[in-house]
Parts: sequence; C-alpha cells; structure tokens
Amino acid sequence: MEKKYKRTLVTCALPYANGPVHIGHLAGVYVPGDIYVRYLRLKGEDVLYVCGSDEHGVPITIKAKKEGVTPQDIVDRYHKTIKDSFTGLGINFDIYSRTSSKVHEHNAAEFFRKLYDDDKFITRESEQYYDTEAKTFLADRYITGTCPKCGNPNAYGDQCEKCGSTLSPEELIDPKSALSGSAPVKKKTKHWYLPLDKYEPWLREWILEQHKEWKSNVYGQCKSWLDGGLQPRAVSRDLDWGVPLPIDGAEGKVLYVWFDAPIGYMSNTQELLPQSWEKWWKDPETRMVHFIGKDNIVFHCIVFPSMLKAYGSYILPDNVPANEFLNLEGDKISTSRNWAVWCNEYLEQFPGQEDVLRYVLCANAPETKDNDFTWKDFQTRNNSELVAILGNFVNRAVVLTGKYFGGKVPANLKPEAIDKETLDSIIPCKEAMERYLDTFHFREAQKEAMNIARIGNKYISDSEPWKVAKTDMDRAASILYTCLQICADLAIAFEPFLPFSSGKLRKMLRVGIDAGFDHRKGEGEPTVNFYRDGESAALHTVAQGESPVSDGMPVLKWDMLGSAEILAAGHELGEPELLFAKIEDSVVDAQVERLKSIKAEREAAEAAKAAAEAAKHVEPQKDEVTFDDFGRMDIRTATVLAAERVPKTDKLLKLTIDTGIDQRTIVSGIAEFYSPEDMVGKQICILANLAPRVIKGIESKGMILMAKQGDGKMRFITPAETLANGAQIS
Ligand code: MF3
Ligand code: ZN
Repeated sequence: MEKKYKRTLVTCALPYANGPVHIGHLAGVYVPGDIYVRYLRLKGEDVLYVCGSDEHGVPITIKAKKEGVTPQDIVDRYHKTIKDSFTGLGINFDIYSRTSSKVHEHNAAEFFRKLYDDDKFITRESEQYYDTEAKTFLADRYITGTCPKCGNPNAYGDQCEKCGSTLSPEELIDPKSALSGSAPVKKKTKHWYLPLDKYEPWLREWILEQHKEWKSNVYGQCKSWLDGGLQPRAVSRDLDWGVPLPIDGAEGKVLYVWFDAPIGYMSNTQELLPQSWEKWWKDPETRMVHFIGKDNIVFHCIVFPSMLKAYGSYILPDNVPANEFLNLEGDKISTSRNWAVWCNEYLEQFPGQEDVLRYVLCANAPETKDNDFTWKDFQTRNNSELVAILGNFVNRAVVLTGKYFGGKVPANLKPEAIDKETLDSIIPCKEAMERYLDTFHFREAQKEAMNIARIGNKYISDSEPWKVAKTDMDRAASILYTCLQICADLAIAFEPFLPFSSGKLRKMLRVGIDAGFDHRKGEGEPTVNFYRDGESAALHTVAQGESPVSDGMPVLKWDMLGSAEILAAGHELGEPELLFAKIEDSVVDAQVERLKSIKAEREAAEAAKAAAEAAKHVEPQKDEVTFDDFGRMDIRTATVLAAERVPKTDKLLKLTIDTGIDQRTIVSGIAEFYSPEDMVGKQICILANLAPRVIKGIESKGMILMAKQGDGKMRFITPAETLANGAQIS
C-alpha cells in the first residue's frame, strides 16, 4: 500500500465506566485495535493510540442509583478496573484517560460553544417524557418500554438490545420510568440540535463516494442511515450528570453523552501531548482510524464527522473498522444480565494465559457477522493450535538445539533444497499477513501467522533431526539452523497478536525486537522506543534517529520476517521454556458450569417475574345477565367431608360434600392446587343445581366455586365466617 500519510491516530471506543470490560468489547474493538497498532509500530510507523473511559451517560447514573452511591463512585471504580484490564492484556494505550477529566470538561464545553457561536445548532421545544415522582426528564435509558419493532418488553428509550434497533422514547409502547417504574407524563423542554440533514449531501459524497473501501458492514449501515434521511439530533439533555451546557438559559442541561464522548479522543490526546496534540487532529497527513463495535457506527461515521465538519479545521476518520457482536455460548453478551466473561476475572483466573484469550478472540472476531465464544472452542484452540502447533514446534527446535549443539545456533553445514524452500514459503505468509492487516482482516492475518508455525512443524517432523543426529550431525545442524530461523520468524509474526508469548520466545532466542515508537511518555522525552529485549514490555529511551540496542543481541524487525538468516551461527540461546500449557477439561467445565448457574438463576427470576405479571392479568367482563339469570343459580355453603384422588388422573379430586340438603359427590378439577388432605373439613361454596355429569365413571352433582387468577392459580371460596351448610348465596 502506498504511504500517503505521516502518522496514524488510532482510537478505540471509550468504554462506559459502568462495568468491567468483557470479551465482547475485547473481540470487537480492543484486541483488533491493539493488533493493528502493534503491527504498524513494528513496521516503523508513527502511531498514537488513544482511549479512555466514557464516564457520562444515563447507564452510569442508573447504576449509581441502584447501588445507592454517586455516579462519581461508579466511574472511579470502573475506570480503574477497565484500565487495569487493558494493561493486563497487553493493550498499552499511549493514554487511557477519562471524560470526567478537567481537560475534557473544558474541551467539550468549548467545542459546543464554538458551534453555538457559529450558529451551527438549531433549538427546538418539544414535549418529552417526565417522571413526576422523581421530578426529572427521562432521557435515553431512563425510560423503558416495549420495542415497536420486535416486541421486547425491556427496550430502552434509545435502543432495543434485543433487535438492535435505534429508538426514540416516543416510539416505545407502554413507556415506564426506569427510576420510579411509573408511567411518565409529557412536559415541554428546549434542546439544542445538530441539523444532520444539512450535512447529508456532504456525508453522501464523503462516505458513499470517497470511502467505498470501508468494511461492507460499516458502509452498508451508513448507506442505510443516509438513504433513510437524516434528522436533526439533540445534543443536550435534561440531566444532572454530564458536561453542563456552557451558555445562558440552559440551566439543568448537560451535553448528550454522545456529543461529549468522541471529543474525549481529542481531550485525551491533548492531555498526553499538550504542545503537539494538534498535529494528530489537524494535519491532513495524519490518518485517523476508529476501532468500534457496530452499535457505534452511526456516531463515528455520521454524527462525530458532522461535528468535526461543523467545527472546521479537524481531520476526519480515514477508516472506521467496526466489528459485529460476539455472543457467549449462544447468547447475547449483556452487562446487565451478567452474561459475559469479564476481562478482570479472566486475568485473575488465567494468570499467564493472557495471550490465549487474545488468540481465541482474534480467531473468532466477529469481523463480518456476529460470532460465538464457547469455552470448548477456547480449549480446543489452545490445546490443538497454540500448544500443539506453535508451542510444540518452538519447543522441539529449542530443546534439540540444547541437546545437540549446547544451546547455540548451529552452523548451516549441510543445506538441502528443502531448507530454502521451507524458508521461502514463509514469504507469501508475510505478504498475506500484510494484505490482511492493512485491510483489517485480523482473523485471516493470525491464521497466516499460525501457518508459519505449521510450516515449521511439518518441516521438523518430516526432516526428523532427532533421527538424523544419530548418523549425520552436520545435516542435523542444518535442520535446526533452519528451524531456529523459523522460530525467529514466529517471534516477529506473532508480536502483534501474542505479545507475551512473542516476548517469551524472544527470551528463549535471546533477541530483542524493534517494535516501534510509542508515546506513553508524552512530550517529556524526545523519542521513546517501544522495545523489548526479553519477556517484559520494557520502555527504552533512545535519541531521535538512533536505533534500539539490545546488549549485543540481534534485534528483530518486521522486514526480517521470511529472510534467509535472522539468527547467525554461534548465537547463544536462552533456557527453553514452554510457551503454552494444555487447558484441562475441568477448567473449562467449571466455566461452563458457572455460566449455566447464572442462566438458571436468571431464568428462574424471569419466570417468577412473568408469573407475577400474568397473575395480575384480569379477564374482561362477560356479557350482561339479567337478575333472573343469576337467580336461577343455586349457590350454597357446604363442607367437604371426605376427599380422594380420582385414580389415573392428575387433576381430579372426588369430594364427598355436606350441602345442608344432602350428602353428595362432586368431582372437581382442583388436584393441581389441593391435595385431598387440604380439602377435608373445609367449608366451601358450591353451585348446587348444576345438571349432574358422569366424570371418569363417577356421577358428579354440582360444582365447587373457585377463583382463578391471571396465571391460572385457583383457590376455593370460603365464607368470611363459618356458616351453616346450605346457606344460600345471593
Ligand atoms: N461508551 C460508548 C460505548 O460503549 C462508546 C463511546 S465512543 C466515543 O458504546 F467515541 F464516544 F468515545
Ligand atoms: Zn427490538
């Protein structure tokens, strides 16, 4: 690909600080983002990698309310959890800040003010839902109701999580306040709107004509938004959590979270690089790439670009590689339903296996369609790919070198054609990886990296150095020489995907890697080289233009991948170490069990809730009857003398009744609700003059009066005080 730019600004969607990040976030946004950044840096490109917590918005205030703490408590807690999770997984942003930072509050307000001063907004008065109990307007997630598109009874005022539709509160059927549960009323309020309709012709040209290369899911979603016609979008809300509108006459109003959050990318850049941030946002030679999930497409492709355009002077995203969603064991991942594998928990439960998660999430990344994560697949990919192919090859090469050649790269004493053919066959893998990585096809790129390990595995199995060594040590030397070159290739190829394992491998091979520049130290140091000489992700400062040194060790570079000699004869290796460990059934079974019990709990709670709802259901009134109609029914008190189940039925009890008039038998379908013992001695009400019927060979004379509620539960009717049997009810 021809290089038309000087630097790349990569952003990953700012996660809401209302919960830890889960595998869905990781697979959709952060793992691909990290692979891309590592790859570009490995190739020597200048990349700034920006993220942070999104700390405004209604989900955070709702969570705070539920827990009885302040929104600030919530965001402080999760900002830390999320930040640590990213670090733990080797996702090293240059800056991970937060939208509650001072810089950001200032920036977001100023951004609004400039558009306001430039007359870029329109205002509208409208009737919006208002909770009279909680005395607040109900924006976005503060309102729930039934989705008009799919009937999901728990849709939110901004979105239905079941069918993914974007909604407005007005569209919800049976709206309810998420605060008080009461039905809201409508109340007048004024808001500021960005008239997206005015940007439509420009957006059509910019996206539909100039960015045909965007991923088809992204392009398609943009096209359907544009074809549907854009409407002005409110950028303010009546809430008390957020960035206050910096203008008069807007008391009690804050910026809509989707207005302030993307400005967070800018604020965070500015926080890290107060002097030089502008070149990342204003220089046309900067290329901006947003990694996001599919629910963020409209905001990053239509709303935020329109904001940037309205402001003027900012660059626009060059690409927005959005992924679809990852499901978990066949079900939609959901923070609120606790259906997720949480990154922080994974890191605690699987120490040293960070790369396994990265690998599996990349292999299953929902790049073109929703995809499923299962623990079985996690185990299989670890055991039969990472352990059996990559780990096994590296281990055989390094251990045999230790055994026959004292842990030094042997000289290529007796080369054969197959050696060169094998090394040459890695070049197309490298080229394919570049093609895939440049176009955001990370799954395929990782497959190609694994193909290099497959090539190595096949080569070592076919050439059998352990046998050859018995008769021809020179030939064994050449075989292991070749294998070790492939190991070095693997350390390069896997660095973007498996940074921890690549580090371990480099430690075994005793090589460094020039993994490019990063900006984690901000402007304080002139240039920082991101450079690892072994296991750890150490940062070494080197002067501008200098290349990293590694205590005399060879330094790997991306361009060496596939070259004939990376490790020279005589280079001393480190201690062999296993790159990956087998994951046993018991480990994944425990995870599956955990999920099963979460699901069972949820289903029980849902069933209880549904039953409670159903119980409240009241049948409509029947057709009118006359007084005479009613008078013809002879309803009386009676007492149950004896009761028994009717054999071979589930529902029927045979009751012997004292009606005051006589003793008789009534067969009643109440066995589901009462056992015979429950009934004996009870005073009940009966319809005495119902025509007799033979039920299961028993003549039943009359009927027990039962009350039945909406969920089908039935109870017999008993007078408020015991009366004589045969008392007439009228
Ligand atoms: N917090 C949003 C989400 O999780 C993403 C915000 S991205 C930003 O869906 F651009 F607004 F920052
Ligand atoms: Zn829906």
